[in-house]
Amino acid sequence: MSRNEEKRNDYAFTIVLGGNTGVGKTCLLSTYVTECFPEIVTATIGADFKTRTIDIDGKHVKLTFFDIAGPERFRTYVGMYARQADAIVLVYDVTNWQSFESIREWRQRMDHCAKHKVRRMLVGNKCDLTSRRVVSLEEGRELAATTSMMHMETSAKTYANLEALFSDLVRNLIATSEPGK
Ligand code: GTP
Repeated sequence: MSRNEEKRNDYAFTIVLGGNTGVGKTCLLSTYVTECFPEIVTATIGADFKTRTIDIDGKHVKLTFFDIAGPERFRTYVGMYARQADAIVLVYDVTNWQSFESIREWRQRMDHCAKHKVRRMLVGNKCDLTSRRVVSLEEGRELAATTSMMHMETSAKTYANLEALFSDLVRNLIATSEPGK
C-alpha cells in the first residue's frame, strides 16, 4: 500500500493470534487474507505477519495480524507481540482437548503484557470436523464467559465465520477508539 493510500485509513488495528501448535492460526489468517485455504502450510517459526484492509460500516480499516508460533520454545515472543495488540485472538482446535486446556495459560501470558483496553476473542477452529469434535460449543462459550472473552467457532477450511469473527472484533474496537487510531 502506498503512503497516500495509508492516509485514507480511518482506523488501524493490530490483532495478535496465539494458541497451541496445529490449531490452525496460520490457515485462519491466510484464508481470511487471501480467501483461499492453503493446501500446504508449514509450521510458523517465531511469528509471522499479514495485513488486510477492510471497509466496515463506511470506515476504512487497516488490520495488521501477528501469528505467534504455537510450540513452547517460541513462547518468549508472546509478550513482545501482546504489548502491541489492540485485540488478542486465542485459538483452540475443537478436535484437540489439550489445545483447549492451554487457553488459560495463553491468556495469562498475554495479559501480563497486554494493553489495559485490549479486546479478547476465544476461537474454536476446525468446526468442520464434526465427527472428531471433543470440545463442545457450550464448553467453549463457558470458558469464554469465565475468562471475559468473546467466543466464536470457525473453520479456516470452509471459511465458516471468518468474516464474522474479524468484523465483530473490528466493530468492537471501533466502538471504543478514536478515528485515526
Ligand atoms: P503453528 O504454526 O505450529 O503454531 O500451527 P498453526 O496453529 O498455525 O496451525 P496451521 O495453520 O499450520 O494448521 C495446522 C493443520 O491444521 C494444517 O494441516 C491445516 O491444514 C489444518 N487446519 C487448519 N485449519 C483447519 C480447519 O479449519 N479445518 C480443518 N479440517 N483443518 C484445518
